[in-house]
Amino acid sequence: MPPADEPIRYSHRLFEVATPEEARGHILHAADAAQLKERWQVETPWFGGLIRHACGVLPESRVLDFGCGLGRLSKWLIDTVGCRVVGVDISEGMRKLAADYVGSPKFSAVAYEAFRADPALGGGFDAAFACYVLQHVERPDEDLPAIAVALRPGGRFLLVNARLRWVPTTHGWVNDDVDVLALAGVSFVGLQGYVFPPEIAVVPGTDQETAINLYRRP
Ligand SMILES: C[S@@+](CC[C@H](N)C(=O)[O-])C[C@H]1O[C@@H](n2cnc3c(N)ncnc32)[C@H](O)[C@@H]1O
Repeated sequence: MPPADEPIRYSHRLFEVATPEEARGHILHAADAAQLKERWQVETPWFGGLIRHACGVLPESRVLDFGCGLGRLSKWLIDTVGCRVVGVDISEGMRKLAADYVGSPKFSAVAYEAFRADPALGGGFDAAFACYVLQHVERPDEDLPAIAVALRPGGRFLLVNARLRWVPTTHGWVNDDVDVLALAGVSFVGLQGYVFPPEIAVVPGTDQETAINLYRRP
């Protein structure tokens, strides 16, 4: 930790990981290894199924997983539906691990910088989702419009997000009070919100702390 009088700067180094175990620990907060394993096993199919049905993902769909991490949801969608998924992540470590974890020619992991230069990444997307990501990004006011541009008109976007901001900085996690849901309403048409069932929330309180909203690209 730098001296307290040094200015606070955004730093995504908190997401640089070297092993799948380290990645899992950064992706889902839990009290211990057993709870983390349970959270991964219980939440992943539930969110995967929600993305599939809410976003209308079909075998022929091309899907954007913004902030893919290890690619747990990309893997679920590819294994279950057979669609193609492009995962975007700012962390080089996460991208390398995701390619191995998903282990499918239907998946590719792309750097955040490449996404910002061409959000459609060659062909545009039929659906997009960001799960526990936008609470961490430096510029949600730029990333949300970029996700909208990446989608084909009418394409759906599922946003799963902590109600508070957790921005990684040189001084640890910071809440900058940016209202991500308000920003999402600028780039997208809101369609509906979902309840996070308490029985899916392995870590008590996660359901209350999380917003789940579906949008459509105008
Ligand atoms: C809490 S993890 C969630 C991973 C994944 N969505 C999941 O639910 O398993 C947050 C991920 O967002 C990535 N991330 C943070 N800021 C990002 C940005 N500006 N662009 C893309 N990815 C970002 C991190 O590197 C990390 O992999």
